[in-house]
Amino acid sequence: MDADSLIISLEHVRKEFDDGFVAVEDFHLGIKRGEFVTLLGPSGCGKTTTLRMIAGFSIPSSGRILLNGEDITNLPPYKRPVNTVFQHYALFPNLDVYENVAFGLKNKRIPYEGKDWRGRSKTKYRKLSPEVIDEKVAKALKIVDLEDMEDRDVSSLSGGQQQRVAIARAIVNEPQVLLLDEPLSALDRKMRKDMQLELKEMHRKLGITFIYVTHDQEEALSMSDTIVVMKDGAIEQVGSPEKIYNEPVNAYVADFIGESNIYNATMVGDKSVRFLGGVFACVDDFPLNEKVDVVVRPEDVQIFEPGKGKVEAKVATKVFKGEMYQYVLLVGKAEVLCRSTESYEVGEKVSISVLPKNIQVMHKELTENEYLDAWLDGKGKVYIGEEDISFPVDVTQLLKGSEVDEDGYLVDKKSGLRYDLKDADVRLTIPLDKIELEDDLSKGECRGRIISAVWLGDHYQYLVRTEEEEDFVADTPYQWNVGDEVAIHVDPQHLHIRLRKELSNYVLEE
Ligand SMILES: Nc1ncnc2c1ncn2[C@@H]1O[C@H](COP(=O)(O)OP(=O)(O)OP(=O)(O)O)[C@@H](O)[C@H]1O
Ligand SMILES: [Mg+2]
Repeated sequence: MDADSLIISLEHVRKEFDDGFVAVEDFHLGIKRGEFVTLLGPSGCGKTTTLRMIAGFSIPSSGRILLNGEDITNLPPYKRPVNTVFQHYALFPNLDVYENVAFGLKNKRIPYEGKDWRGRSKTKYRKLSPEVIDEKVAKALKIVDLEDMEDRDVSSLSGGQQQRVAIARAIVNEPQVLLLDEPLSALDRKMRKDMQLELKEMHRKLGITFIYVTHDQEEALSMSDTIVVMKDGAIEQVGSPEKIYNEPVNAYVADFIGESNIYNATMVGDKSVRFLGGVFACVDDFPLNEKVDVVVRPEDVQIFEPGKGKVEAKVATKVFKGEMYQYVLLVGKAEVLCRSTESYEVGEKVSISVLPKNIQVMHKELTENEYLDAWLDGKGKVYIGEEDISFPVDVTQLLKGSEVDEDGYLVDKKSGLRYDLKDADVRLTIPLDKIELEDDLSKGECRGRIISAVWLGDHYQYLVRTEEEEDFVADTPYQWNVGDEVAIHVDPQHLHIRLRKELSNYVLEE
């Protein structure tokens, strides 16, 4: 991208709070002049933290923030040509609309080159004249469509009108960049829809850069030039709404950005992918036999008479949505969400297909849980990271024809050699579907909280994080909610370990 067209650059920005929590990690993004950029992600993913760093209310732990090519990383907020409309905007309830909007202007001091009493030149400050303030307030109120409301008490305004006052207050300073942190979250659905259109119109009229924060994907899709999808303080994908919707880079983005069918799939030939028990032509090229994820949007599922499509299905549910029906079809145990103007009955047999261009094939992020910093205690347990998480493990998998003797040593039954595996570093892997989650917290080897959940057609994929910040990804058909605490259990035969060093390093000298 041409650096001149960028108004703001965030360069590998990281924010670690005093308690050691990393809220933003390696955030790298260029924002073009006049762009409407939306940071989109679930609660707690670091959206507000990122905005606060752009505004100057918070200083990055590392990385740089540039404005018009100049480093503003450490510049105080009032020196930045940036204004913020906060998640919880606070108007002055005792002041009228005019006074609320004019408040900042009245306190503003404009620097100019004057002379001191000896006639030497000196930077002096003056207030804005009442006429100039009047003019600026009138202009701001016109943009937010409140020009006749100058004298109204703000407490007498509707939520939407109050929101517009908050926006007028931010744009009256004529910032180059307007930051908006979930400005519509307090409004009801109908009002939010209206305000979305109005905000878009304001953006067009003002011609300045908007950086908008929301966790509402519909809002992001309808308003933005560019969407930045965030997860856990990091960027997952940056692109236009169409790009993010049609070509999500992974299952997380696909799931977050709208209703979709996501399936485990395998490449079975040149641009040919197998899922739902059928083989489909696709447009993406991946290596033969590669495990991939595919996304199919509900509106792209074609429904035919039995035998006329690629795979056979049965109607499981039917909901009338006004201009069309929404169905859940079953292909074996896998669910297919789809829509059609045609009416089919629950229990009816149908056949489905998907056009190649509507099958989005994505790299599988993860095929198994992998822990590179695991180690053995020599007493039949494998530890992950520090001392807190451990699982009973079968160490005889390290050597064919071995057993564990009464002292806990691994014994080669043929040669009689004994191995002391205390503190031996191993690489531990656990298949996704072998992590068992339990409501009963006493049942597992450790416990954690559900951080995210993605429905993959016939099972959920959960990210579970322990208090020690160790992550487990579990594939299971059972349902939990984000935030639930669960016990994590793995049967010893599903813990796969590989020594980091040769086994011969651990021979017991006798
Ligand atoms: N001062 C702080 N000290 C420690 N942790 C903090 C601090 N401020 C925020 N956090 C943590 O950083 C993470 C990101 O917070 P942030 O407010 O940026 O999230 P968000 O994406 O804006 O979420 P929401 O949609 O709920 O507003 C959260 O886990 C939050 O608890
Ligand atoms: Mg926030």
